[in-house]
Amino acid sequence: MTIADSPTQAAPDPIRYEGDTAGHLVLIDQTRLPVELIYLDCRDVETVWEAIKMLRVRGAPAIGIAAAYGVIVGLQTATDKSPEEFEARFYEVVEYLAGSRPTAVNLFWALDRLKARYAAEKEAGKSTAEIHAALLAEARFIHEDDRQVCRAIGKHGAELIQPGHGILTHCNAGGLATADYGTALAVMFTCHDQGKDIHVFVDETRPLLQGSRLTAWELMQRNIPATLICDNMAAQVMKEGRISAVITGADRIAANGDSANKIGTYGVAVLAKAHGIPFYIAAPISTFDLSLPTGDGIPIEQRDPVEIIHGMGKQTAPENVQVYNPAFDVTPAGLIAGIITEKGVISPVTPENVAQVVAG
Ligand code: MRU
Repeated sequence: MTIADSPTQAAPDPIRYEGDTAGHLVLIDQTRLPVELIYLDCRDVETVWEAIKMLRVRGAPAIGIAAAYGVIVGLQTATDKSPEEFEARFYEVVEYLAGSRPTAVNLFWALDRLKARYAAEKEAGKSTAEIHAALLAEARFIHEDDRQVCRAIGKHGAELIQPGHGILTHCNAGGLATADYGTALAVMFTCHDQGKDIHVFVDETRPLLQGSRLTAWELMQRNIPATLICDNMAAQVMKEGRISAVITGADRIAANGDSANKIGTYGVAVLAKAHGIPFYIAAPISTFDLSLPTGDGIPIEQRDPVEIIHGMGKQTAPENVQVYNPAFDVTPAGLIAGIITEKGVISPVTPENVAQVVAG
C-alpha cells in the first residue's frame, strides 16, 4: 500500500506483535519509506536480525523493542524441548540478536531485561511454557512503557521551546524509531499539540537519508511545518537566524553525558555552539550506559561502503574507492545544553547531574 492509498493520516504503528507466544512480529519496513508503506512479517529470529541489521527497523528504542519480540519468535523452535534445551536456545537467541548492531545500548538493555526475567521465572520454578509467556509479557511491557516514556520526554522538552521557534533535527528520532511518538520529534509533536507554532528544519542525514525519508515524512503526516535541507546547509540556515534550538536523539549516552547519535550530529553540535544556539539531546533513561565513564568507550558501528558508493541503489562514486563509513559519532557533553529524559531535563550536563537523574 502506498502512502497515497493510506486510509488515514494517523501515524501507523511501526512495531506490533500479533498473537500469543506462537505469534509473530510485524514491522514497518523503513527502508521502503517514504515511497511505500510496507509491513514485514517476522516469523523467525533470522528475519528479525536481518531487519535490525539492514535498518528495516531502526532507532535505538525501536531496536530494543524489536529484539525483545525477536526472542519470543526465536524461542518458538524450542517449545517442545527439555528445559535445558529451551534455556540453551534462549541464550543462543539473545546472543544472536545482540550481534545485530553494536551502538544503540537500548538493544542490550532490552535483552538484559529479558535475561533477568528468565532468571526470575526459572528461580520461581516455572515451566518452559510459563517462562515463554512471561518473556512475552516483559516484551509487551517494554513496548508499552516506551509509549509513556516518549510522551513524558515530549512534555519536558516542549517547555524549552517558545512559539515561533525554528528547530533543527538530524536523522530520525520520531515515532518510527520508538514505540510510536519519538524522542526528539516527541518534543515537536507536543509543541504542535499545544498549539505552539514551530518550524522544523530537517537534515537529510547522509548516507542513508533517515532525515529526508523518515523525519520529513513523519512531520508531514502530522501537518507540522517542516523544511528539508541537505546536511551541508545547516551552518547557513543557522547564520540566517532561522534556528532557535537543535534537538536530536541518541543511541548511547555515557556517564558524563557524552552522547552517540547518527553520524553528523557532532558537527551539528559544533555549528550550534558557534552560532550560540542551544543543542539538546532527547533520550530515554534506557539510552544511558553508566558503565562507560566517557563517550570514548562507545562502540561505533562501521557500515558497508556500498551505502556510500551506491547510495539508495544509484552509483555515486568510483566502484573501488576507499570508504570510511561510521554510522555514529559522539558529541561531547560540553556541547550539549541539556538532555531531555522522561524524568526531566539534565542541565547542565555533568556526571553528577546525569547520575542524579538516571540512577536517582
Ligand atoms: O542508524 P539508525 O537509523 O538506527 O540511527 C538512529 C539514530 O541515530 C537516532 O537518532 C537514535 O537512535 C535515536 S532514536 C529515538
